[in-house]
Amino acid sequence: MTEQVKTGDGSWTLKSEQFGVTYHSVHGARTESEHVFIEHGLAQVPGDGPIRVFEVGFGTGLNAGLAWAWAKRTGRRVEYRAVEAFPVAVAVEVPGLTEEEAARLKAGTSWDSSEFGFDVEVGRLEDVKFEGRTIDVVFFDAFAPSAQPELWRQEVFESLGEGVVDGGRLVTYCAQGEARRAMRAAGWRVEKAPGPPGKREMTVAFREAVNRFNVRAYALIVEDGRVLTVREDLPGGPATKFPGGGVEFGEGPEEAVLRELREELGEAGAGEITGHAYTTGFYVRSIFRPSDQILSLYYYVRLNRPLDVPTKPDAPVKVAGGEAGLKWRWARVEELGDLAFPIDRHVAEHVLQA
Ligand SMILES: C[S@@+](CC[C@H](N)C(=O)[O-])C[C@H]1O[C@@H](n2cnc3c(N)ncnc32)[C@H](O)[C@@H]1O
Repeated sequence: MTEQVKTGDGSWTLKSEQFGVTYHSVHGARTESEHVFIEHGLAQVPGDGPIRVFEVGFGTGLNAGLAWAWAKRTGRRVEYRAVEAFPVAVAVEVPGLTEEEAARLKAGTSWDSSEFGFDVEVGRLEDVKFEGRTIDVVFFDAFAPSAQPELWRQEVFESLGEGVVDGGRLVTYCAQGEARRAMRAAGWRVEKAPGPPGKREMTVAFREAVNRFNVRAYALIVEDGRVLTVREDLPGGPATKFPGGGVEFGEGPEEAVLRELREELGEAGAGEITGHAYTTGFYVRSIFRPSDQILSLYYYVRLNRPLDVPTKPDAPVKVAGGEAGLKWRWARVEELGDLAFPIDRHVAEHVLQA
């Protein structure tokens, strides 16, 4: 059951009983759609070729209608594909469309003209398989994370990313931090943009080509059945990791790991390499720089002097002379569940535990 609701700009939307939310902003449905999806989405796609849109949540067809009207206005072809799990037979009025065009949207049947190709799949986004990168813009218009948390997860954004061209974008009215973190973790570069009336911000995320290797070197320092870990404040929040960092031009990974230890631990970080432990064998994209593919080398290192830091899980400490903001502790392998990075977790499970 759905109820019609008049919004702040005089345009109409629906209220979903199932999810307890409206399909658009009550401050102005059409103004919101025009701002988020047309101005920050369609109108930003470079070039003059056809624009391939994928919409999550066809709903009333308002976004599709505005996209069609935009295509007619600008003369640029739009190929619109949408998925909708719970179709509704209500259509909203869109200025710029003929009655016949509006009726086609309401019917939700496929359509193709020189300016607008259109296809709605009835089904769940979670079941859509993207084969090949063919989407220029994703209109991510699911209900809010509070109503549908399952659609704002990393896995969903990863799957969508499989279908988007390099440089393609995803636009959404939602500015929630957790949703943005999920996009970032799925390899999208996430930016904020001013929101439509009644909302401070919206989100624009970009799919970037992976075109650089980021080579890193880390130390596994193992003593008395415990390995040295460090807690660092990273852009996404505090993260537990193994000590080490990026290899610089002009140095080898072994030099890099010893240099990093000296930088991070000061005098206490002086030590020697006793062996190679692991080199990344699987594909990992950087969550901090989506254009980077991470390749990490891990070495066993023995420190010259014993390092006196705690073994208690929640009490890592600073080391005098070490880098500010870093907190250290010795951890048993089975206590390494909080490692932040996938390669570190792989090492804990398959190298240290072996
Ligand atoms: C905010 S409304 C979309 C409004 C729509 N874009 C418009 O212009 O009217 C969210 C839509 O997502 C649909 N939806 C909910 N769960 C879904 C899922 N798992 N897969 C696809 N669509 C879903 C809802 O039925 C609803 O139509």
